[in-house]
Amino acid sequence: MKVTVGVSGGIAAYKAAELVRALQKQALDVQVVMTEAAQRFVQPLTFAALTGHQVITSLWDSPDTAEHEASSIEHMDAAQTTDALVVAPATANVLAKFAHGIADDFLTTLYLATTAPVIVAPAMNVNMWQHPATQANLETLAARNVRIVAPDSGYLACGMIGAGRLAEIDAIAEAVLGVLHHRNDLAGETVMVTAGGTREALDPVRFLGNRSSGKMGYAMAEAAQRRGARVILVTAPTALRVPAGCEAVTVITTEEMRQAVLDRLDQATIVIKAAAVADYRPRVQAGQKLRRSGPLTLELEPTQDILAEVVERRRPDMLVIGFAAETEDVLAHGRDKLLRKGADAIVLNDVSREGVGFDSERNAVTFLTRERAIELPEMTKRELADHILDEILALRRPSHVLAESDTTGD
Ligand code: PMT
Repeated sequence: MKVTVGVSGGIAAYKAAELVRALQKQALDVQVVMTEAAQRFVQPLTFAALTGHQVITSLWDSPDTAEHEASSIEHMDAAQTTDALVVAPATANVLAKFAHGIADDFLTTLYLATTAPVIVAPAMNVNMWQHPATQANLETLAARNVRIVAPDSGYLACGMIGAGRLAEIDAIAEAVLGVLHHRNDLAGETVMVTAGGTREALDPVRFLGNRSSGKMGYAMAEAAQRRGARVILVTAPTALRVPAGCEAVTVITTEEMRQAVLDRLDQATIVIKAAAVADYRPRVQAGQKLRRSGPLTLELEPTQDILAEVVERRRPDMLVIGFAAETEDVLAHGRDKLLRKGADAIVLNDVSREGVGFDSERNAVTFLTRERAIELPEMTKRELADHILDEILALRRPSHVLAESDTTGD
């Protein structure tokens, strides 16, 4: 897919390079368009080197009159084939031109010419941002379905404090992905996702934990939210930002996760248990920090199995999906867990493999049901999340139900 990044003339123009990188990481082909003012802040060469495409800086690239028309048509063609236009930073001037249909350079002409979704990430001085003219222009653009990624508040380059700082690059990239992958096939569903690794305290300082970063669970939550679901994210401690639009419930221990899940179970239509949950906790938690004095034996007791409890209490229309991280006899252990826990499917990770599983950006899994084992090859966790959701939704299709009853009948 192709995204055009429009860069207009503000001090935040240099941050557009980070946006280009973030979009490329999502396997998007990026074309950059710069206004004349933007080129005073950043050289087009920076973007050309990052994208491998010549940066479009003018409607008229060639000084030769005969070639003028050809180059402008070529550029317009590039505009017509883009899947989204994102302008970051968008100055007050560019917003005003967009709102009033003024097309006096390539970027503003492109805005009028393209039928692709448009996202703007404004950045400017706080007074310019708050000015009724700017606010009226934004209202006009919002009414035309232009997606606005509002600026953050803080110290601005002009020395003032307030709203006007370009939004976080992740938030802008998320908005772009949101419009590109807008599928509403989870509308009406409430998806509860558990993520991260639970912790069981040994004393006020130490805990038993595991290597889960929460990335896989957060990717599931974000993908479900993008596809129209209401998402309840029950999360153990992670270093991640909660995906926009998800309702987060933060927990630490297995028991807290259990309570949070069971308290909200009646709201969920799909439960996805991506969390790595402690199977044991210390029988006694020391009230004070344990002192070092020779060998220490810890007595552990099993925690409750939340997944099994969810399966026990499920409504008939609810889908329950577990995850499993295995290091040996992966498929056999996965099948055993699927049957023992009674989930509809288990997403099986071979965490002995390099570069996938715990804490990595990428993953490869087997989506295991009673009838099938579907290999989902290595890709980013975010991409994988969409494939897993596709397989989960396939469980609802009549063909699957038929296949299941066929098997039971044998
Ligand atoms: O977080 P990342 O760094 O991105 O890594 C992703 C992951 C590898 C943690 C994740 O994709 C994964 O595989 N999660 C499951 C980890 C695991 O080992 O689960 P398990 O085999 O111990 O448990 C199987 C299932 O039962 C899981 O859905 C688990 O949430 C659930 N369970 C386990 C124990 C327990 N007491 N209650 C549970 O509900």
